[in-house]
Amino acid sequence: MDWSELESAARAVLGNAHAPYSGFPVAAAIRFADGAIEAGVNVENASYPLSVCAERNAVAAGVRSGRGRIDAVLILTGAEMPTPPCGGCRQVLAEFGDPGVPVRSVTLQGQSTEHTLGALLPHAFGPGALG
Ligand code: THU
Repeated sequence: MDWSELESAARAVLGNAHAPYSGFPVAAAIRFADGAIEAGVNVENASYPLSVCAERNAVAAGVRSGRGRIDAVLILTGAEMPTPPCGGCRQVLAEFGDPGVPVRSVTLQGQSTEHTLGALLPHAFGPGALG
């Protein structure tokens, strides 16, 4: 798996993150079934709970453009250690991605971790449960 395009896409937008409250900018880049890459950043709000994670904004961009299923996810931060997606984002990613989808977390310094979506969210509640 070549992650370079996803990492470039995330790097290109990390500086646009709106994270004045946490001081923790995050960028996410997702490759969708049609081959296109969509990126997102976290967008915080003075009313803190209204803040939206980078991953969810990248998913929304893909849905908006009708890109289909998720094939790969990359998350970029300036943190010391790679940060896997939060629990809420795992659930949102699982709505559009199979358990085998690779999720790679990278830092600006080049550290990385990689897990499948299924490993990050085992025994997920999904659309199938609704019949
Ligand atoms: N954040 C993300 O964008 N993605 C994650 O997976 C974890 C957390 C954001 C939310 C908030 O704007 C900041 O990082 C600190 O939690």
